[in-house]
Amino acid sequence: MVKILAINGSHRKGKNTWSLLAAVLEGAKEMGASTELIELVDYNIKPCQGCNCCLKKPQCSITDDDMGFLGKKLLEADGIVFGSPVYFANVSGLMKIFMDRTRWLYLAKNMLSGKVGAAVTNAALRNGGQELAHIILERFITMHGMILASSRDPVGQVYNGGAMGSLFQAMERSGPMQWRRSVEEDEVAIRECHQLGRNVVRLAERVTPFRTS
Ligand SMILES: Cc1cc2nc3c(=O)[nH]c(=O)nc-3n(C[C@H](O)[C@H](O)[C@H](O)COP(=O)(O)O)c2cc1C
Repeated sequence: MVKILAINGSHRKGKNTWSLLAAVLEGAKEMGASTELIELVDYNIKPCQGCNCCLKKPQCSITDDDMGFLGKKLLEADGIVFGSPVYFANVSGLMKIFMDRTRWLYLAKNMLSGKVGAAVTNAALRNGGQELAHIILERFITMHGMILASSRDPVGQVYNGGAMGSLFQAMERSGPMQWRRSVEEDEVAIRECHQLGRNVVRLAERVTPFRTS
């Protein structure tokens, strides 16, 4: 049975990014995987100090926070799904701090190499920067030597309309903003996340037996 871990980089627990990750894990469970969802906001994660200690040894100089525990979780998983809300067309600050702190897992020794990785992102607006944040997460995954799984469009939006620009411009054009109560009402995003979970497991089952570390 493959283990699929989801990492939520939202600063809010159990909200929209959580819903997308939960849909991914539902798909993964249907395929027989064991699953776990971690909310980064529950953990103490200090920012990277840029000391470059990880250039020489596969370890981090910061040891008095929860990154040791989270690193162990990453190492135990066969597939890892990273989820972030879009903050200024980028990943959240919390997700970025977490990403930076995984540097010791790949510089001296590529320790996540051969695992399956996938990304989901959620923004308020349509074309709110989901694709950029998505590319950033996918690049992070491939820099770690992980094998990328994807589905057609695992990105969500909470805005339920087409107008774009600033919120103010959108309101001027089309009246009050129409918000979904949650991304759970974004049927396409939920369906694609669910499919992503199935794809992650399918790929992990194929590549895990060949992983060397
Ligand atoms: C600091 C900040 C920056 C944001 N930047 C964007 C953005 O660039 N585009 C967008 O569409 N939504 C943006 N949002 C809205 C969030 O992406 C959106 O509310 C998302 O659903 C939050 O995910 P969560 O529900 O998991 O917390 C921003 C929110 C915050 C707090």
